[in-house]
Amino acid sequence: MPLIAVIGAQWGDEGKGKVVDLLAEKADLVVRFSGGPNAGHTVLNPYGEFRLHLVPSGIFYPHTRCLIGNGVVVSPAVLLEELEHLQKKEVDTSRLFISNRAHLIMPYHTLLDKLEEEARGSKALGTTRSGVGPAYMDKVARLGIRVGDLLDKEGLLSRLRFVLKQKNILLTKVYGTPPLSLKEIHHQYCQYGDRLAPFICDTEPLVKQALERGELILFEGAQGTLLDIDFGTYPYVTSSSPVVAGAFVGLGLSPTKIDYVLGVLKSYTTRVGGGPMPTELRGKTGESIRQIAHEYGATTGRPRRCGWFDAVAARFSTYINGFNGVALTRLDVLDTFASIKVCTGYKVNGDIIHQFPNNSAVLQRCQPIYEELPGWQCSTTHLRHFGELPPPAQSYVKRLEELINCPISIISVGPRREQTIIARPIL
Ligand code: GDP
Ligand code: IMO
Ligand code: MG
Repeated sequence: MPLIAVIGAQWGDEGKGKVVDLLAEKADLVVRFSGGPNAGHTVLNPYGEFRLHLVPSGIFYPHTRCLIGNGVVVSPAVLLEELEHLQKKEVDTSRLFISNRAHLIMPYHTLLDKLEEEARGSKALGTTRSGVGPAYMDKVARLGIRVGDLLDKEGLLSRLRFVLKQKNILLTKVYGTPPLSLKEIHHQYCQYGDRLAPFICDTEPLVKQALERGELILFEGAQGTLLDIDFGTYPYVTSSSPVVAGAFVGLGLSPTKIDYVLGVLKSYTTRVGGGPMPTELRGKTGESIRQIAHEYGATTGRPRRCGWFDAVAARFSTYINGFNGVALTRLDVLDTFASIKVCTGYKVNGDIIHQFPNNSAVLQRCQPIYEELPGWQCSTTHLRHFGELPPPAQSYVKRLEELINCPISIISVGPRREQTIIARPIL
């Protein structure tokens, strides 16, 4: 019966991994529906600390099946490395299922990601260079190769011969790099296919069965709403649909089935890569947040850009996804600040606006209008009930609820499962 989607509401890295790892305890099925190895979901639990790129964060519970849906682009190399690492840490990975419809990231995708970024020069997007954009381009261009194709070696050879011919023209004639070898890629992907075969299947019947049995299904969003190909800060976005709507097409499920959409918001804002970010703090305060919170990318290790909470952007994400509730993460990061700012509007071209602009050039010119709230200057990491939070922290949470017009159901005060306050029941 219950179907819950966990969706990033900012520019990614909101703490989705922690929230999913927590909620997955009760889940029967945990599903990734979009993105690829550009995601880096940190999970800290009794098995250790993990940065998951493709395997859903529910993998740590013995009763939970994990599914990589058709909307994901899969790098077999990254996935196999991740599985090996999990197995080394004695995590049972036998309950993983990969949709045969999911598209593969091929060596030319990672290479083109790098070459395209270099060619953009000062207009580089700051991609993770994991080949995600080029793989989605091929999917839409009907030039993709799918996970299911790994199971038919002859068919794979013929498809790869056709696609690689075009890619090699692009690589040699446009980018001036040497062509890639058909034989080598085919050999490598046949080996990947042999190793991944036990996990590859038709995933639709699994989801249908779970729905019929009334099991709890958890959608694990990747990236964030402001990186969405349609609703994000285009062109500084990823190539998939991280919004909740992406879950239906990324898995093959009707929107009528969803029961609860949980947005994940950090108590402040971060962004990694290029593009506008109105509340970015370039000075000492931004650096303080980065140091206190260790804001470095889980996938690329790049320093994340840090700034105050942007309620204009968060309200937009809340509307686009129809959040029923929010998980507010990393409240503890603000523990030491004497005062905390929240952006409630933007000043642009002499006007004051409260709508999130649809144009990145306009957003780039937006100056944040701040409201200043008192800090609490004491540790919250050990607190487990809303009423135990210092009054200024309670006021901060309540003010954010008002500004985004959505209840905050979960408050996270540390990276561990138990460092969580359930302020309101989900469902
Ligand atoms: P995701 O991509 O949305 O899963 O987020 P990331 O894993 O990329 O980044 C979130 C980071 O915040 C990780 O290092 C988490 O361990 C950490 N984290 C999550 N929740 C909290 C919290 O409430 N407090 C603190 N201090 N860290 C947290
Ligand atoms: P999780 O799931 C933060 C960003 C990249 C870049 C832009 C495009 O961990 O929240 P891409 O490689 O997707 O073509 O890069 O999107 N990006 C993320 N930023 N968290 C992520 O995932 C991201 N996935 C992509 O930094 O700006
Ligand atoms: Mg991340």
